[in-house]
Amino acid sequence: MGENVPMGELSVTGSGTEIISLYDLPWSKLLEDWPEDPGLTSMRGISRHVVRLVRTGDRDEDVFAVKETVEEFSTREYALLRELNSRGAPCVEPLAVVTGRLDLRGNELPTALVTRYLAYSLPYRVILSGNVTPHEITTMANALALLLVKLHLLGFWWGDCSLSNALFRRDASEYSAYLVDAETGEFQNTLTDGQREHDLEIALFNVAAELEDLAIAGVLHPGMDPIRASQGVISRYRRLWKSLNEPQILDPKDRHAVERAMRSLQDLGFAVEEVEITKDGDKGVLKFSPRLVAAGYHQQRLKEILGLDAEELQAKRLLASFDRYRSREAQSGLSDDVLARQWLTEVFDHVLSQIPADLRGRVEPAQMFHEILEHRWYLGEKAGKDLGLDFATHEYVTQILPFRTDSATNVREEPVAVVE
Ligand SMILES: Nc1ncnc2c1ncn2[C@@H]1O[C@H](COP(=O)(O)OP(=O)(O)O)[C@@H](O)[C@H]1O
Ligand SMILES: [Mg+2]
Repeated sequence: MGENVPMGELSVTGSGTEIISLYDLPWSKLLEDWPEDPGLTSMRGISRHVVRLVRTGDRDEDVFAVKETVEEFSTREYALLRELNSRGAPCVEPLAVVTGRLDLRGNELPTALVTRYLAYSLPYRVILSGNVTPHEITTMANALALLLVKLHLLGFWWGDCSLSNALFRRDASEYSAYLVDAETGEFQNTLTDGQREHDLEIALFNVAAELEDLAIAGVLHPGMDPIRASQGVISRYRRLWKSLNEPQILDPKDRHAVERAMRSLQDLGFAVEEVEITKDGDKGVLKFSPRLVAAGYHQQRLKEILGLDAEELQAKRLLASFDRYRSREAQSGLSDDVLARQWLTEVFDHVLSQIPADLRGRVEPAQMFHEILEHRWYLGEKAGKDLGLDFATHEYVTQILPFRTDSATNVREEPVAVVE
């Protein structure tokens, strides 16, 4: 007999066809010893457990995050992430739990949880490592607050809300946040005010500590106070929660009052699926109480009307662009469906098709479209007249895009920055 190769029962349990490619990863090695390409390493946040970003193929979908922990935790987190996904929460997608790992000497290795790498996601340390403006911190804090509101609306208690347990994606001029670490979370039938307050306390503490770390490292914008910024998350959360849950007093004589109340929630990104209107007899006023709200109002409309996926503010921007197009074409007598298809080919795809192949994949398409619209506005202001979308696209492609990348999975040779 030759070497006694231990025959463990390596088991990859999960969903999706990817799990076959996951099977070939080097499970008999400790995760710390797995190679990781530097582009991916730079896009990984800090963690308690060993986490590695790995690639099994050339496509964006072939990048995975692997986290090593004990079986009980990975199984729990896997189940929570699945439930969160099925309820439409913004969070990473779990793919598999890998158990029965043995090293070549037959020693047991920890269980691993595999999630799909969230494309175009930016850990807060990456966002806050450049020239950080207060606007960036404020919009990140807002995004985190909104994420917590969304989770709470679904009855999820996070238990470890922090900047490092979230991932950020650009969303027009702001950010949207996704949950990445669900290990401490729990679903409740009804989340009590006490539980929500507890989550807020944890968030306040974590975010303040994370920003304090950055301040000590000297990368925080001077004048930015970690505690104040962290309190910003909480106050934003409270304002949102209040508008979504507390009754509004309406004037019964105002025929558009209900519509306006609904619109104000839609503007915050929430579709009102059920409301209750009660009459306050004594004062003769109406009380408008949202009963059922769902996040992603503009995202859903964008999907319905134009068939595109985007973040909430990107969706708002794309819909506004389509609305303008539609009113320009109002005389044509064409149906909205036809106009939608026309807008897609003549505007959206037309712009994106001008991106040279070697610069694709750096910025997410809906975001890139937004940035080009912004650039058109900027160029127009500078020139004192509109210079058109094609010109703006060309300028963006040559002057901005070569120095932009939000993607770790698409790192090609970086251009050398122009020295002034
Ligand atoms: N699916 C994913 N997509 C992108 N990055 C991820 C993913 N999963 C983990 N990461 C990165 O790894 C870091 C640590 O993951 P996390 O689940 O918070 O581990 P821990 O439980 O050890 O804190 C995250 O902050 C994130 O940067
Ligand atoms: Mg974590």
